[in-house]
Amino acid sequence: MDDVIGRIPKQLFIDGKWQDSADGSTFGVDDPGNEQRLCEIADGQSADAEAAVEAAVTAQESWARTPPRERGEILRRAFELMTERADELALLMTLEMGKSLKESRAEVIYAAEFFRWFSEEAVRIDGRYSPNPAGGGRTIVTRQPVGPCLLVTPWNFPLAMGTRKIGPAVAAGCTMIVKPPQLTPLSMLNLAALLTEAGLPDGVLNVVSSTSATRIVNPVLGDARVRKMSFTGSTEVGRKLVEQCAPNLQRMSMELGGNAPFLVFADADLDAAVQGAVTAKMRNNGESCVAANRFHVAEPVAEEFTRRLTEKMAGLRIGHGTEEGVSVGPLISDGQRDKVIELVGDARDRGATATTGGEPLDGKGFFYRPTVLSGVPEGARILREEVFGPVAPITTFTDEDEAVALAGDTEFGLVGYLFTRDLDRAIRVGEALPTGMVGINTGLVSNPAAPFGGVKASGFGREGGHEGIDEYLDTKYLAVAVGAH
Ligand code: SIN
Repeated sequence: MDDVIGRIPKQLFIDGKWQDSADGSTFGVDDPGNEQRLCEIADGQSADAEAAVEAAVTAQESWARTPPRERGEILRRAFELMTERADELALLMTLEMGKSLKESRAEVIYAAEFFRWFSEEAVRIDGRYSPNPAGGGRTIVTRQPVGPCLLVTPWNFPLAMGTRKIGPAVAAGCTMIVKPPQLTPLSMLNLAALLTEAGLPDGVLNVVSSTSATRIVNPVLGDARVRKMSFTGSTEVGRKLVEQCAPNLQRMSMELGGNAPFLVFADADLDAAVQGAVTAKMRNNGESCVAANRFHVAEPVAEEFTRRLTEKMAGLRIGHGTEEGVSVGPLISDGQRDKVIELVGDARDRGATATTGGEPLDGKGFFYRPTVLSGVPEGARILREEVFGPVAPITTFTDEDEAVALAGDTEFGLVGYLFTRDLDRAIRVGEALPTGMVGINTGLVSNPAAPFGGVKASGFGREGGHEGIDEYLDTKYLAVAVGAH
């Protein structure tokens, strides 16, 4: 373990060089599973952010001219390096973020797949050529990189949320300034070193870790040469960033909060629904914006669904993510655990019952037991607020209309899940849910080949799929006059 931490770079990465922060300051990164310090890393200052912008702006022109195949090959090599080093990358992720090694390995593969996908997209940036309807001219439509981008990534998926922004930016020919999360910055620093090894030229990717997001974001977005920002994080912060992009009209991709409904109809395959529920709830310890936040179950099967889900959740082993057989690690922080304690307390005060769990673990590390709450009444905060923890609140519905109404009764619109054996209903309800994504008889929608993103307060823009690269390309049209012969 010490070896992994010892090997990773701990400075800022600007213009292809590892360097201390402008004032030499550092901050500590801790293991949430035992609250021990892992290491100290450079604490970026505004001057560092400005230097990163200069590097990205300087590199932009030649990077945009680099042939798409060459850009794609760099991503492909990075994909291969990540795959070869999956175990080591997973260990580092578990140490800084807490999730089990099995989950971290799955994230490394998920993250690497974004590089593979976008290595293939780099060479398929196409355009259009057409004769004007009235004759006498041609229309050529082409697409160009938007320019230097600011990418702000969250702590919950330390690698995958980076690669799904960096992958399309590299493929499109954009340079970048990345602000990694304060709580889990190590995987991103390591990724910068890996991308350099894969051949990424100096200045294309700049990484500035910091204890202050505003110290980095303000000077970067204040510079009109930076043309785009992509953010994954809370709706509250997303709203502020949208305002900050207004003066320079920078393009934005906003992947924000969620409050995913999970619908189980009476005709569902209950085993599949319970398995899907565990996946949708417990992936990443529940700390995911696509985590099922609330379960709405048809009355005739609610008792049986609750019994089976309780049994599965009670059987999950909780512990430090590096321990053999553990599937539930700690939450990221004391504050995050307090929020879960508060939401469960509120639901219980209003009459809900914990059929398993319902409490934190004593001792070091921010652990909270996998929990199922039944009989959760309508006014409970846990049905309205994003839980970001291993708690499954269950309510019931009587018919399809009520299920759809309950599912859509939120300001958020990232994802919804539904389980039914009736194909007509699956399509009908899938189309009716006011969300950017729907899982039908599955608890997992995340897929590098599909467009990930939400509507309403869950943001806008898509990551992954063919749509993912569009976010980093501007459309340009050339009007060509063609005279008669
Ligand atoms: C997120 O929680 O922000 C993203 C989860 C995913 O890509 O599956």
